[in-house]
Amino acid sequence: MPSENWLQGVCVKTDPGFGLYVHWPYCAQKCPYCDFNSFARTPEDASVWTAAYVAEIERHADLVGPQTLRSIYFGGGTPSLMAAETVQAVIDTAQRVWSFSNDIEITLEANPSSVETGKLTDFRSAGVNRLSLGVQALKEDDLRRLGRLHSTQDALTALDVARRVFDRVSFDLIYARQDQTLADWSAELTQALSFDPGHLSLYQLTIEPGTAFHDRFHRGNLKGLPDEDVAADMFDLTQDMTAAAGLPAYEISNHAKSGMQSRHNLIYWSGGSWAGIGPGAHGRLWVEDERIGTESFLNPATWLKQVQASCGTQKQTVLSAQDVLNEYVMMGLRHIDGISRQRTNDILGFDLAIDPDLVEMGFLEVSGDQIKTTAKGRPLLNQIIERLLV
Ligand SMILES: C[S@@+](CC[C@H](N)C(=O)[O-])C[C@H]1O[C@@H](n2cnc3c(N)ncnc32)[C@H](O)[C@@H]1O
Ligand code: SF4
Repeated sequence: MPSENWLQGVCVKTDPGFGLYVHWPYCAQKCPYCDFNSFARTPEDASVWTAAYVAEIERHADLVGPQTLRSIYFGGGTPSLMAAETVQAVIDTAQRVWSFSNDIEITLEANPSSVETGKLTDFRSAGVNRLSLGVQALKEDDLRRLGRLHSTQDALTALDVARRVFDRVSFDLIYARQDQTLADWSAELTQALSFDPGHLSLYQLTIEPGTAFHDRFHRGNLKGLPDEDVAADMFDLTQDMTAAAGLPAYEISNHAKSGMQSRHNLIYWSGGSWAGIGPGAHGRLWVEDERIGTESFLNPATWLKQVQASCGTQKQTVLSAQDVLNEYVMMGLRHIDGISRQRTNDILGFDLAIDPDLVEMGFLEVSGDQIKTTAKGRPLLNQIIERLLV
């Protein structure tokens, strides 16, 4: 194994550490663009959920044994709708069964409604130390068209409170929205950067199958979406403006000041291990030299019932070397630091063949142990990965 320390003294490529992902499947309302495993429903009794999460963490601890946890991530759905006691119980149980690294990152995704903003101090007391706020847009009409329940003012208030409560706050915006011009996005991103965030997630709107937007789009009722060229210009502008503001992209959609990158996502992007608990959560674990993939039952009621009966995992597979390589390349090349050549060799048992055209045409850079995409290659990531994994 190589010993390069590519990020902040952490050998992320070879030892990205162990994390815990906790999925909360409920939202106040289903947004028309969203294909996450989330449901607009009032959850069952909080104590039932607390008991289920605790049982799943204990079961995973039996499976993987002692670990040092570097990160916990509460994702959703809308985890800011969770009872603070449930969040507390998850954190306490994780600490009881695994040890925490000194710099453990504990992130919770929050929506900017006033009710949830009022709970932020409770989440902080429970041990959450990083908040990811779903702002999505800074324009009233666009928030409405995205089906959001919050106003711009709610988002600004939530951001303000979040920054007083947490040292590390990130927020999400979606661009390439209906009727958005390049100049509109430039003005909105300027406003976002004026809040001096440490971390920003900037996603290009994608029309996902199975969503209300997908139906509307295919019926011709989702008008005014920027064409591919404008969307590509928006991506380029995003790279330039965030870099100039000191938050360069460190992944396709993620931008951060130095030292403020999400450590949890780094586990995914660098082939680390994590336990995934909650409806629909996926995990990747090393158990006695085998890479195990886990998938939890998708439906919340089914997941709860299964956990109460025995366990929430619906599918557990041992991944082949090719599967491990595919995931490592697909996830790793999203990150600006790319992948370790030695690591690909360790997985495969032989040298990964790299199409020289990709390097000659300036899409991929190979230097020493490191294989990474260039600025020119990054927008073509999917095509590059296809060529690498033939
Ligand atoms: C799990 S989701 C949402 C977290 C939180 N419930 C919220 O809505 O703010 C994480 C992020 O993915 C992004 N997202 C979801 N669906 C998307 C889509 N179709 N296109 C682009 N971004 C999307 C949104 O920015 C969202 O904040
Ligand atoms: S975007 Fe967030 S609030 Fe909206 S449905 Fe998806 S997970 Fe729920």
